Amino acid sequence: MEFQVIRKDGNARYGILRGTHGETETPCFMPVGTLGAVKGVTWDRIGQMGYSLVLSNVYHLYLRPGLEILQEAGGIHPFTGWKGLILTDSGGFQVFSLSKLMKITEDGIYFKSHIDGSEHFFSPEFVVEFEEKIGVDIGMVLDECTPYPATYEYAKHSMERTVRWALRSIRARTTDKTAIFAIVQGGVYNDLRLKCVEMLSELPFEGFAIGGLSVGEPKDEMYRITRLVASQLPEDKPRYLMGVGKPEDILEAVEAGVDMFDCVIPTRNARNGTLFTSRGKINIKAAKFKRDFSPVDPECDCYTCKNFSRAYLRHLYVSGEINAAILNTIHNLHFYGRLMKDIREAIKKGKFQEFKRNFLEKYSSQEG
Ligand code: GUN
Ligand code: ZN
Repeated sequence: MEFQVIRKDGNARYGILRGTHGETETPCFMPVGTLGAVKGVTWDRIGQMGYSLVLSNVYHLYLRPGLEILQEAGGIHPFTGWKGLILTDSGGFQVFSLSKLMKITEDGIYFKSHIDGSEHFFSPEFVVEFEEKIGVDIGMVLDECTPYPATYEYAKHSMERTVRWALRSIRARTTDKTAIFAIVQGGVYNDLRLKCVEMLSELPFEGFAIGGLSVGEPKDEMYRITRLVASQLPEDKPRYLMGVGKPEDILEAVEAGVDMFDCVIPTRNARNGTLFTSRGKINIKAAKFKRDFSPVDPECDCYTCKNFSRAYLRHLYVSGEINAAILNTIHNLHFYGRLMKDIREAIKKGKFQEFKRNFLEKYSSQEG
């Protein structure tokens, strides 16, 4: 993997990330395809919207379809049919949130499948092996996501374990076809975060993620930790803020120097009828859209906005038509793709601050 920062505007960065299956400009947003598919859209549509990097997850892929079938298919790319870049999260976070976590030891994580209750074990070494064997472009290390709130002692121990696991992950590598990113933990404690950055930065990772945020902490805490960590991470490596976020959070983090994002918000919101517009979010279910024959966002040039009205989309939604999810997902992912493109253009022109201010002013001017 190769990463190049091409232009800086304050701390915001415009760059290019090249991997085994293509390249992406940064700052970028990764659509979430946890199970090897982005819910509601096919890959050709993802590509048409300008996305070349998507996110998947070791926890889910390991349970279903499993390593054997993925390898028999020739890897995750031939199996899923996606030709672009893939980043997989390690599953550390999902084990905590989804499965019945049985036990966490120095060796790794013992957990029960959320599908059938069967028992499994992930070690840092196994996660790297899995990511290399299925051929992802970027693999995240196994980490221990510190919950919020957590005591200083708890956050310290889980951060230190995350660093020891990161070292084991790096030692387990066997190929440079799969880049490995470390994850910074440390809860909301400045000194723990800084110590974590210091220890991880010494190891030859190809990128660094900020984890353990967007887990229930207040917004200002999330922004404070993001700014602190981003300011100390190596300049020449990509920085990825995991699980974030809303448009306003992305703008804040780009300003702090973050390059990569992922979040279920655009796709999940689409499926429950919440659509992003340049003037804020709307809920397409609302009765006021019954006779609204205008597009979701007159400023959007996505397939949905160019061809369908709010009234029609509302009708599809309330009727439970599958096309509601599809058309809404196309719009929301287009909105996020456009936001990232506008961010990159603004950085290139040295006008990020101006763009951020204008975007937020309009975005909060909710049509009501
Ligand atoms: N996704 C969102 N936050 C986290 C985190 O802290 N760790 C991992 N592995 N994934 C995440
Ligand atoms: Zn649209």
